[in-house]
Formats: sequence, C-alpha cells, structure tokens
Amino acid sequence: MNFQKKILCIGAGYVGGPTMTVIADHCPQYKVTIVDINEEKIAAWQTDELPIYEPGLLDVVKRTRGKNLFFSTDIVKEIDEADIIFVSVNTPTKTFGEGKGKASDLQYLEKTAHAIVAASNSAKIIVEKSTLPVRTAEALEKILNSNEKGIHFEVVSNPEFLAEGTAIRDLENPDRVLVGSRETEEGFKARQTVVDIYKNWVPDERIIRSNVWSSELSKLVANAFLAQRISSINSISALCEKTGADVTEISRAIGADSRIGNKFLNASIGFGGSCFKKDILNLVYISETLGLTEVAEYWENVIKMNEYQEKRFVKRMLVTMFNTLANKKIVLFGFAFKADTGDTRETPAYYVAKMLLEEHANVFITDPKALKNAKIDLAEFGDKVNYIEDPYEAAKEADAIAIMTEWNLYKTLDYKKIYDSMRKPAHLFDGRNILNLSQIEEIGFDSHAIGIQ
Ligand code: NAD
Ligand code: UDX
Repeated sequence: MNFQKKILCIGAGYVGGPTMTVIADHCPQYKVTIVDINEEKIAAWQTDELPIYEPGLLDVVKRTRGKNLFFSTDIVKEIDEADIIFVSVNTPTKTFGEGKGKASDLQYLEKTAHAIVAASNSAKIIVEKSTLPVRTAEALEKILNSNEKGIHFEVVSNPEFLAEGTAIRDLENPDRVLVGSRETEEGFKARQTVVDIYKNWVPDERIIRSNVWSSELSKLVANAFLAQRISSINSISALCEKTGADVTEISRAIGADSRIGNKFLNASIGFGGSCFKKDILNLVYISETLGLTEVAEYWENVIKMNEYQEKRFVKRMLVTMFNTLANKKIVLFGFAFKADTGDTRETPAYYVAKMLLEEHANVFITDPKALKNAKIDLAEFGDKVNYIEDPYEAAKEADAIAIMTEWNLYKTLDYKKIYDSMRKPAHLFDGRNILNLSQIEEIGFDSHAIGIQ
C-alpha cells in the first residue's frame, strides 16, 4: 500500500506505544512505525501480551497492527525511510555528575539525535515527544544540523499530556494538543505538518500553537501545577488529622469554586509516577542554574511535602500499632503508583514498604497488575517481602492492611471476610480514602484514613 507519509517513533514505552497506536488508528493514510533498542519490548508489542498494561490499548493495537502500525528494531532503516520522527525516549533524572538528582539525563535523547543524523539521507521533521528541559530544541538543532550531508532537520515540540491508566481516553479526546515550533517559515511549515496529523481527530480549537520554548516549558509547568495541587491538599490533610476537619469535605467545599475546580484534590499517601517528581526536579534545576533561587525553592517544597506525606503515613501506622511494627504482618493493598496501570515508577508504596521493612515488619504485597514490577523494585530485600496475588490470601493472619493504590477491586472486597481472617486488633490504613470508614469500623477494624482524625 502507498502511504502518504511515513511517521516513525523512537521509543516504544508508556508514551511512544499508546500515542503512536492512536495516531495510526486515526490516520490510515500514514504508515506508523515504532522502534526501540529493547528487542524484548518490540517483540512483546507484536503479541497480545503487550509490554505495558493500559485499559483499551490492546484493542487499538489489534485494529492497527500489520495494517499501518508496525514495530521494528531496525532503527537505521526506519529512520532513513521516515518523513517525521517522534522522539519518545526516556529522560530520567540524572543519577551522576553535575545536576545529579535533579537535572534531566539527556543521554538517550542525544544518542537518538546522533542515530538520526547517521541514518538520514533526506530532510525530516523531528518531534520532541519526550518531556525535555526548556531550550533542548536548540541543542537538538545543533546536533542534527551539524551533519555533513547538507540535510536540514526542523525540530518541533509536541509534549504528551496523557496520564497512565487513562492513556487511550486522553489520547482519543485530549483537552489540548500543544505544538511549538521556531517562528520561521520552515518552522511554521513543520508545525503545520504536525498539526495536520492531529487534525484527523482532534478539533482545531483544541490544538494550541506556540513558540518552541513555550511548548517545552508548558509541559514541565503542567505537571508542576498538577502535583502542587496534590501537595497542597495533602498539607491540609495533616491539619485535618489534628483538628477534626475532614479533608474529603474540604476538597468538596473548595473544589465547588469554579476558580479552583474539583480535580486533583484527592488527598492521598502521596503522588507517584515517572513524571511529577522528575519534572519538578528538572524545573527546580533549571531555575537554580538561572539563579532563580526563590522559584527553585518554591517548587522544591511540592516534593518535600510529598515525602512528608509518605513518612507521616508510616509514622501514623507505627503510633497506632503501639509503637512497634517488628514481626507484625502488614499487607500493602496495591503497589502500582495509581489504579489501572502496572507501572510502579516512584510509587509511594515502594517508600512505604521500605520504611516498614526498616521497622522490621513482615511486608506482604498484593496487586492485580504490578506484582512483577514490585518484585523487581524490591529485589534487594529478597524473601523479606512476600507477594501474593489474591488479596484474601494475602490478608490472612495479618495485623494490618494499608491501601496504597485505589484499584476498584479494593473498593469491592468482602472486608468482613478479610477481618475474620486477620489477627486482632485488626488495623486498616486507607492511603487513598476509598473505603467507607464507618462501615469498616462497624465490622470491627481499627481504621484510619488520610486527613480524617
Ligand atoms: P519508557 O521508559 O517507558 O520508554 C522509553 C523507551 O525509549 C524505552 O523503551 C527505551 O528502551 C527506549 N529508548 C531509549 N533510548 C533509545 C534509543 N537510543 N533508541 C531507541 N529507543 C530508545 O518512558 P516513557 O514513560 O514512555 O516516557 C518517555 C518520555 O515521555 C519521557 O520524557 C517522559 O517524561 C515523557 N512522558 C511520560 C509520560 C508517562 O505517563 N509515562 C507522560 C507524558 C510524557
Ligand atoms: C501525570 C499527568 O497527569 C499527565 O498529564 C502527564 O502527561 C504525566 O504525568 P500520571 O503520572 O500518569 O500523569 O498520573 P496522574 O493521574 O497525574 O497521577 C499521578 C499521581 O498523583 C498518582 O500517584 C496519583 O495517585 C496521584 N494523585 C492524583 C493523587 O494523589 N491525588 C489526586 O487528586 C490525583
């Protein structure tokens, strides 16, 4: 079949996979190929056991795979053939050298840029899909356009705003799509080419055009603002636990103000995920390097509050359980950083598990989708941690349950059955405020939730 354009995505992860699948689904006129250096991942994308769990993803993959969606490890050939290349490689926090623990590690991005230069024989549009520090496009342009073949690459920023667990819904019906470019004739043309992809299913009024720096920075700012709301409500949850005010009632009361809005006001054990912490740290680092100390400190506090929330949760467990957790069986209900994903990157459950192990508790973990990742994350603790898929089995003879992830499953369990199988007094700590505490207490549990005395 003759395709109008060839779109390539480098990086077949949580962003590259779902994003490109949805593009393929809405643009049968384009050939969409996803490549990765990870052969295992590319092989998995070609089976029904996809490398990531995301509701609805498999259906879209099945609709498009082999028609206009392809997976490959032949990166050189695919780069050469592509008209537009989305770069969706990981940009984790640096773990070494200058900026360690804060700055973005751009080595995967830079390797990709060099691979593009080496394999290209024609002009291409390079789309920044990964989340990047502001002004990365400048560095990319330098690497790409310093080629000796006389090929011109135009860099466009198109950050991704999908959230895990709702990725397909978010991609199908995005609040907005952001496309930033250089404000030159070639920049505008490249921007329009990227806009035209989205116009196949996204209404034009939801496609925001901007300059390339605003686009890059908007992504960091969007995540910082979202995380800031969680830290703000979590800070209030601490106050509620001391005063008898109920944080869920406060969220409802303040969220009804249309200027505040009711989303992202659920007090919790803390935010996790691969993005919030990394992107705020990056914002902090950029501000610091530009000499904006107050700006850096302001955003750093969003992360400090999150860490405080995780520590506070474990402290509350300790105090409630008579100041010793040693040899007590504690079951974590959920290990994923949020419901409907198997992703455990930066999950608060990891930090809680670690703190409980430091208190010499016997830690058991149950989760419908994240046990494989949990075992990898906690491998250093060997058989000190136990993994059981069935929550009823996991809870047997336990001293306490701590809800870490708001899986629907945990809202619908038979807690009377669970209570009967536990040691008494049976404690329940709801880190996601998903249970009706008065019903739980009626069963006999000693129960505690976030932001409720
Ligand atoms: P990921 O780790 O799941 O996927 C990245 C993939 O890139 C990996 O499969 C890796 O093997 C591959 N890769 C790395 N270097 C490569 C190279 N040189 N050539 C080919 N492939 C290479 O990461 P992710 O969660 O998909 O995130 C990717 C980017 O998108 C990051 O910048 C992230 O901040 C951003 N982002 C993530 C989310 C999210 O919810 N996960 C949302 C929005 C934006
Ligand atoms: C986030 C952004 O939402 C998304 O736009 C961006 O592209 C990537 O980062 P993600 O991390 O996948 O998405 O999930 P999100 O729904 O934002 O949740 C992040 C964390 O915050 C989770 O641990 C979640 O449980 C927590 N959270 C969210 C709360 O604790 N309270 C809330 O009210 C909302």
